[in-house]
Amino acid sequence: MGKLHLENLPVSVELVRGPDGVEFRYIDERLLPDDLAMAATSDWREVVEAVKTLAVRGAPAIGLAGAAALALWAHSTSSFDGIDQVAYEIAHARPTAVNLQWGVDRALAVAKGAAAQEVPELLYELVKDMEAEDEARNRAIGANGAALLPQGCRVLTHCNAGSLATYYYGTALGVVYAAAEQGKIERVYADETRPVGQGARLTAWELSRAGVPVTLICDNMAASLMARGEVDAVIVGADRIAANGDTANKIGTYSVAVLAHEHGIPFYVAAPTSTIDRSIPDGSRIPIEQRAPTEVLPVPIPGVDVYNPAFDVTPARYISAIITEAGVM
Ligand code: MRU
Repeated sequence: MGKLHLENLPVSVELVRGPDGVEFRYIDERLLPDDLAMAATSDWREVVEAVKTLAVRGAPAIGLAGAAALALWAHSTSSFDGIDQVAYEIAHARPTAVNLQWGVDRALAVAKGAAAQEVPELLYELVKDMEAEDEARNRAIGANGAALLPQGCRVLTHCNAGSLATYYYGTALGVVYAAAEQGKIERVYADETRPVGQGARLTAWELSRAGVPVTLICDNMAASLMARGEVDAVIVGADRIAANGDTANKIGTYSVAVLAHEHGIPFYVAAPTSTIDRSIPDGSRIPIEQRAPTEVLPVPIPGVDVYNPAFDVTPARYISAIITEAGVM
């Protein structure tokens, strides 16, 4: 492996004090890999729109965006009467990743426990703390996960659970970066991740920028790669983990888990503890987002219906371990 360039990893979302007040800055990920463009807004509704349209995506990043949206709202109003309705709208921008509700709930708890005039500043400080916590958690996940990987490891990943899906560093790719720093990573195979292409557009771009050897594959190539003995471990992120360990992640994760099981390859889920939803006993209760047919079929064909769930649920029995900042389960 050549030299690592982790300093090239981007911060994907951030609340900052701009020239016109507090604003949310984010990489518009719809434009990657062609353009690395930052967008900025002080309108909480635009943050909600960015989450819905996948300009900002990835469970930890949308958790931060949720808290930041409530902070922007607090900076733009003099009456906090409507806070519950605004919080509800933000939290329901996307249904599957529990981190969004978690981020909004944290902001709501701070707002409700403070005097009205203090709320805007306290929410700004909360989001800055959450950003720092996110990076610290990801680095801890990385260290815990790297310990599980062998020397010369060839990793397969699905979707993007990297710096682009978090504040910084990533979860599944955080494990890759930590292992790469220990000289353990030979190569990462990135599933393209149809229909939106998070693997092709984001993971491949991010890993190559960081100096990690990466090979892009179509989703239907994982089985043949595993059969040839070219994959030592699968590492993916998560959007919601039920109390029994069943895990919702990007559509296609389940099939990769079944393939890994069949080929005797360890299948790891890397996620912060904020992704664990103990209120849900198993994966059957995880709400699965259905997205627009045009993501699958940009030009509709008359008479053809499209099925486009954004996530699937991998049963816990296919998961070798869940890697969190608190340890490996
Ligand atoms: O629809 P997306 O791009 O938001 O889906 C993202 C994923 O499924 C990620 O794997 C998951 O959120 C973990 S990100 C650290």
